[in-house]
Amino acid sequence: MTSPQNTPASARFPAGGRAFPHRDLIAIGDLERHEILYLLAEAEQYVEFNRQAAKHTDKLAGLTIINAFFENSTRTLLSFEIAGKRLGADVVNMHAAQSSVKKGETLIDTAVTLNAMRADAIVIRHGSSGAVGLIAGKVDCPVLNAGDGQHEHPTQALLDALALRLKLREMGHDAEDFTGLTVTICGDILHSRVARSNILCLQALGATVRLCAPPALMPSGIANMGVEPYNRFDDALKGSDVVMMLRLQNERMDGQFIPSPREYRHLYGLTRDRLALANDQAIVMHPGPMNRGVEIDSDVADMEGRSIITAQVEMGVAIRMACLDVLTRKARAIEGWGEGEWV
Ligand code: NCD
Repeated sequence: MTSPQNTPASARFPAGGRAFPHRDLIAIGDLERHEILYLLAEAEQYVEFNRQAAKHTDKLAGLTIINAFFENSTRTLLSFEIAGKRLGADVVNMHAAQSSVKKGETLIDTAVTLNAMRADAIVIRHGSSGAVGLIAGKVDCPVLNAGDGQHEHPTQALLDALALRLKLREMGHDAEDFTGLTVTICGDILHSRVARSNILCLQALGATVRLCAPPALMPSGIANMGVEPYNRFDDALKGSDVVMMLRLQNERMDGQFIPSPREYRHLYGLTRDRLALANDQAIVMHPGPMNRGVEIDSDVADMEGRSIITAQVEMGVAIRMACLDVLTRKARAIEGWGEGEWV
């Protein structure tokens, strides 16, 4: 296959599109549908690329990427690190536990410090909603949000969309968007940045989004986002083509939100019997980390042909490569980049 490095810029940039007008990737809410589709198309090239034995380009050679993670992460941190390295950048990880944040340094001072080191892109995960946007306002390079509190996790929604698109294609649906598809997101919606980003992304791509949660874990006013809220999982499942399960975000809970994990599983756990209520061949998704036996049973999580949970992880690397590539084009003075004349 052609390496993305060798694909001419003219072939990669969408005809008739507009400039990619964002320096940062903070929220799916900032993106228009065609911008989401563009990032997905860019990422598709990296899916093939990542399946080769030798998967390294020098596209981002000479650039420095800092991954600043103020909250724990396995998949997201690792995939951003792998993405940056496969693109040839110098990648540095900053863990808050070992940083001066623990010594009381303010977020703004941390941002100014990162900026002074002349990073070419900064990837940030933070426990407070809005913190990543705040840092973006204080630095000179692109900032990518790897999850800010309960607000957004844009690269997760993009990788979910890519995993879903490839699965649908395998099943014979060759549309580039999700028109006509009903997706149920079930779990701790209240505390979930994954849910928020996915609602916006899935809707932008034409899907109908149902949300299911116990009343205490359903944000008030959520129907204003154009979603269909359910409290009974069995009702939500009927007519669903995709079921996306979410973990209970215990670390964000102040007090008791559910009676017990056992009771939660009884009402909201995705079991094999429950999955049978959804449409024939319904697809199962989960962003991880999973609590097996609570929100999802092992035999469903590992169900061959139906669960795309491992594919979601694989797509994470491709999506993050695409986002780093697109957002550093200005720094790399790539042909075609320029305010207002990207295409
Ligand atoms: C999610 C997160 O951190 O928001 N995980 C992830 O990035 N894959 C979801 C979660 O922690 O439950």
